[in-house]
Amino acid sequence: MSLTDAAAAPGLATSEALRVRGATKTYGAVEALRGADLTVRRGTVHAVCGDNGAGKSTLIKLISGVEAPDGGEISVDGRPVHFADPHAALAAGIATIHQDLGLAPRMAIYQNIFMGSELTRRILGVPVLRRRAMIARSAEFLAQLNSAITDMTVPVDTLSGGQRQAVAICRALRWKAETIIMDEPTAALGVRETAQVLALIRRLREQGVTVILISHNMADVVAVADSVTILRAGRTVLERATEGLDADSLSHLILFVGAEAA
Ligand SMILES: Nc1ncnc2c1ncn2[C@@H]1O[C@H](COP(=O)(O)OP(=O)(O)OP(=O)(O)O)[C@@H](O)[C@H]1O
Ligand SMILES: [Mg+2]
Repeated sequence: MSLTDAAAAPGLATSEALRVRGATKTYGAVEALRGADLTVRRGTVHAVCGDNGAGKSTLIKLISGVEAPDGGEISVDGRPVHFADPHAALAAGIATIHQDLGLAPRMAIYQNIFMGSELTRRILGVPVLRRRAMIARSAEFLAQLNSAITDMTVPVDTLSGGQRQAVAICRALRWKAETIIMDEPTAALGVRETAQVLALIRRLREQGVTVILISHNMADVVAVADSVTILRAGRTVLERATEGLDADSLSHLILFVGAEAA
């Protein structure tokens, strides 16, 4: 059964984590999105693909609350949402890990994981950081991802690219994200680190977290994603399961599906 079939079946509607219908967005004279659809089922890894300028980042900005759509609808768990800002998306359980990861390189792992949501207690009315508790919780989050990192006090700039991704994911988990959007998570990584990040993504799925993966790397997409949405010139031209696709056939779809209509 394809993703769109599943979305169309009323009995399965509850398994839908996120749905975008007919999203449009223009920047001045540029129509970045001209009717983008996206249906992501809960607990799956869903890739968003498309050539340069297809509208992937714009679509992600809409579902992460960075920008508002001009038209169309976004719903989370079947309920329509209008995100005023990224905090609103976060409150709805959607966290985005941008390509730069947004980590503070000189700060410790636990400080990064709890950045903006520090654990504190009051001593004589004064808030004091609960350092030990944050370190312990950070170790739990990383263990949950099967990470081998043990010292939560080392600065993030001592970690490998794959380990940094793990820290960024832990921060999203700390915010209780149910859906994590990852923008090109392997773009800057070597073979071994890429494998580590794909393992992290699989681990998230095992834990019931929904992952939306934006990627230009077809091998990664077919290796880890359950389904894929292909954008072309601001429109969704295909949404299907990755089953039966290899990297070459996916590239072919990205280049040619809907090309005659564009
Ligand atoms: N802030 C903006 N102002 C003007 N045009 C924009 C803006 N953001 C995106 N665009 C344009 O909208 C279109 C879609 O851009 P978008 O960044 O969403 O594509 P993309 O699929 O993420 O591409 P890439 O693979 O290169 O990251 C492009 O033509 C782009 O130039
Ligand atoms: Mg982009």
